[in-house]
Amino acid sequence: MSETYEFRGNLETKPVINDSTVTILVGAQWGDEGKGKWVDILGNRSHFSVRYQGGNNAGHTLYIDGKKVVLHQIPSGVFHPGNISVLSCGVVINPVALVKEMAEVKTLAEVHPSRIWISSRAHVITPWHMECDSLQESQAEVPIGTTKRGIGPAYSDKASRTSLRMEDYIHPEARSKWLERMASSNPSFALHLAKEEHAWSEFNKAAALLKDYVCEAEFRLRYAASLGKEILLEGAQGTLLDINHGTYPFVTSSNTTAGGAIGNLGISHRSVKHVIGIAKAYVTRVGGGPFPTELLDETGEILCEKGREFGATTGRKRRCGWFDAVAMRYSVEVNGMDGMYLNKMDILAGIPQVKICVAYDHPRLGRVTHFPSDLKVLAEMTPVYESFPGWKSDIKTKGSISDLPVEARKFIARIEELCGVPVLKIGTGPGREDFLLRS
Ligand code: IMP
Repeated sequence: MSETYEFRGNLETKPVINDSTVTILVGAQWGDEGKGKWVDILGNRSHFSVRYQGGNNAGHTLYIDGKKVVLHQIPSGVFHPGNISVLSCGVVINPVALVKEMAEVKTLAEVHPSRIWISSRAHVITPWHMECDSLQESQAEVPIGTTKRGIGPAYSDKASRTSLRMEDYIHPEARSKWLERMASSNPSFALHLAKEEHAWSEFNKAAALLKDYVCEAEFRLRYAASLGKEILLEGAQGTLLDINHGTYPFVTSSNTTAGGAIGNLGISHRSVKHVIGIAKAYVTRVGGGPFPTELLDETGEILCEKGREFGATTGRKRRCGWFDAVAMRYSVEVNGMDGMYLNKMDILAGIPQVKICVAYDHPRLGRVTHFPSDLKVLAEMTPVYESFPGWKSDIKTKGSISDLPVEARKFIARIEELCGVPVLKIGTGPGREDFLLRS
């Protein structure tokens, strides 16, 4: 199939800028909104599923034929035979972890260079980056609570222009030169290289296994888009973890938002057809940083237990809280969202009274409805809630949103009103079939 996209360029024709074949699925909160499930579902209808940022800090849990699968780097569309999965240039790649993930996926789907493309422009996470991440976290006065997967240090090196791209990683000579250069300029790196022989040997071995998957993925994608192929861009983490627009420094080191997707991929804004925000009917956060609607009581525990809110990558317990319409509205604006998919409505079922945060109260600023950039201010906010009667019965897991109990529909309608975009689909369970459609 990849032959179709082996376009070498032609200056006699119009540039390959297409219109409207790209859908961006973006995390609308602090990550873990359940994006993987939707990429899996929508992947069926698209030709490409593309990761545009992050690395193996992400964990997308899917249930394929009742079997639980956790993907960290490969886009969830890999389980659809007609779909090509792409790790694009905004991603940082842990090669050893990727080889392992490919082996796991192989038991359920075809893993072949015609089905998985890795951008030659993507940067590599090395064992050194993981060491730096752990060290930085252990030495920090206020740790960020990273996944310790080396994400921040890998992106730092990319920005410092000292990093290794997949292009060079897969060529032994270029890789050796890079290692020599790093070792001669940084004694700590040289020490690590000598000490962690096993990790570096695995790192070197993985290069040969990934070589055939590496290609000029963005070039091929632009060409495919010009042929009208449908492209689904899959964000990792969430808007409030974006390095620019999130709760810095308690963020990840990449651009998680829709604008980031365009920039990272090198596609035209004109090619974007839809931006869909994935949110949960409540909010969770892993790691440090302010979280205005956090519930430190029994309800928080219920959400955590019932919603199985434990990190897919690190197993850490997620902090849980009520739906925050102030933060969601911010996310709608930052991403230019057309609509949202609201996950985990089933988890709220049975809670006698549910709440939506509709504003914040601040000791100095009074009542505010915008999401502030100043973290000290955000930490001082008291959420203002509207309360809604809960819906007792277990909800239907398939069918239409109009099948929901009236209380649940009122809750959704208020979210739509406050956030200014429609709720297009409702997630009602972990499986591929578990969702309700707007009738
Ligand atoms: P890093 O991305 O590992 O550097 O971690 C930075 C922050 O982002 C920490 O608060 C992490 O808990 C958070 N984070 C990273 N990946 C995810 C994710 O997939 N879901 C939710 N939070 C994440």
